[in-house]
Amino acid sequence: MQIAVVGSGYVGLVAAVCFAEMGHSVVCVDNDERKVKALQGGDTLIHELHLPELLKRHLNDGVRFTSDLAEATRTCQAIFIAVGTPQSETGDADLSYVEAVASKIARHMTSYKVIVEKSTVPVYTNEWIRRVIERNGVAREMFDVVSNPEFLREGTAVMDFLHPDRIVVGSETPRAAAVLAEIYAPLTDGSYYTTPNAIAGSFSKDAPPPLLNTSTKSAEIIKHASNAFLALKISFINAVANLCEATDANVEQVARGMGLDQRIGSRFLRPGIGYGGSCFPKDVAAFRSVADQLGIDFSLLNEVEKINWRQKARFLGKVRSALWTLRGKRLAVLGLAFKGGTDDIRDSPAVEMVQMLLAEGCSIRAYDPAAMERTKHVLPPAANLSYAENEYDAAHEADALLVLTDWKEFAELDLARLNQTLKYPIVIDGRNLFEPAVMQQHGFTYLSIGRPTVSPLRETVGTALAQA
Ligand code: UGA
Repeated sequence: MQIAVVGSGYVGLVAAVCFAEMGHSVVCVDNDERKVKALQGGDTLIHELHLPELLKRHLNDGVRFTSDLAEATRTCQAIFIAVGTPQSETGDADLSYVEAVASKIARHMTSYKVIVEKSTVPVYTNEWIRRVIERNGVAREMFDVVSNPEFLREGTAVMDFLHPDRIVVGSETPRAAAVLAEIYAPLTDGSYYTTPNAIAGSFSKDAPPPLLNTSTKSAEIIKHASNAFLALKISFINAVANLCEATDANVEQVARGMGLDQRIGSRFLRPGIGYGGSCFPKDVAAFRSVADQLGIDFSLLNEVEKINWRQKARFLGKVRSALWTLRGKRLAVLGLAFKGGTDDIRDSPAVEMVQMLLAEGCSIRAYDPAAMERTKHVLPPAANLSYAENEYDAAHEADALLVLTDWKEFAELDLARLNQTLKYPIVIDGRNLFEPAVMQQHGFTYLSIGRPTVSPLRETVGTALAQA
């Protein structure tokens, strides 16, 4: 099928390339000429597993890039809107980009089109898009608007797209639902998984992913509710971690014990320095704002946010408890991205933590495998902030090492070498990447989240004691 994807951000670009991988003919539209040029030259612009390989495979064959939305509208039957929906000052989603794209599509429609909202949007957006298109003089029977939310995670976006836990299609007419069913057929009938060089994952020809048909409003709420629920799960385990610290229990054991209950599930129960990224903070705020507007008390979401904020302040307290005073301390920071596997620093708790530590008078030498270039735009190198070549370079002669992002390679560091490199063998781990007993064996004082602090001198020191 001829598909247009409007927007070449994380969601749009991954969707465009993956639709091409599924055998469709895709045109990806962006009004940023610089981006279009880079993509036409094969540069994905984002750090995403499998994406460069798939772009190379399909560039100018299955997928092409343009800034010409009018031409894309005329030639494609399905048009996916995947533009940004940033957070406005009041917390709700700013839908002006979505509206602008809908108006432009309306002005260039010459035959029946299915317009698909893929951006994360609040309930009722579908209806607004329909109204905008009708206001531009398009007859109702000339188009349908479908809600097809995306659940991909940065870092594993391609896998998530091609091996989705579920595909949600919210539509109001059988005709539109049939178009979406055809688009996703290579996944739902399993045929994609038998193609040569198919990206391997959890689904196969015999066990394909499910497609769930819903109303448009349900589909919109599914997206917001899913992200808000995952954020809630993280805040819940962070609050439990704090309780574990107060009692010398071990949150990893608690999370495992909880997660083995199939009704709870083990995923998204990793404690840390709080969730971040371009989705959870924005979507929790937007979902709460929708509830407010509808007069529904959803103050549970306020608590989710509050716990998330406090988690960062608590971590700062932990650093202070290990180092006593902060002014003048030289710290090694591992991790700047909002999570491992990505170069994205939007709403990154790691970057916020660096800013907080600089404000306390620390000097920092930071390393991240992918996010340093982006961070330099926000926090340029300065007398109190430098960027390292690698983990050991960051650790050289530092008073302590802080782990702020869960990169896999950090967990694989040579601990003996790390100990030798640091001035004082103190590691404060905001992501629980190491085993306390192993760190103790390697001579570290090791503080983590929701687990007793260990020190090479004393067997174990309760975190509560360390923080006293
Ligand atoms: C999230 C959702 O997981 C996707 O399903 C959704 O499609 C996407 O938002 C979106 O709306 O576009 P993403 O923001 O890429 O994906 O990242 P996650 O892997 O969900 O992590 C979000 C934050 O939570 C990160 O800061 C991560 O470090 C933190 N996290 C995650 C934890 O602190 N603990 C966990 O157990 C899991």
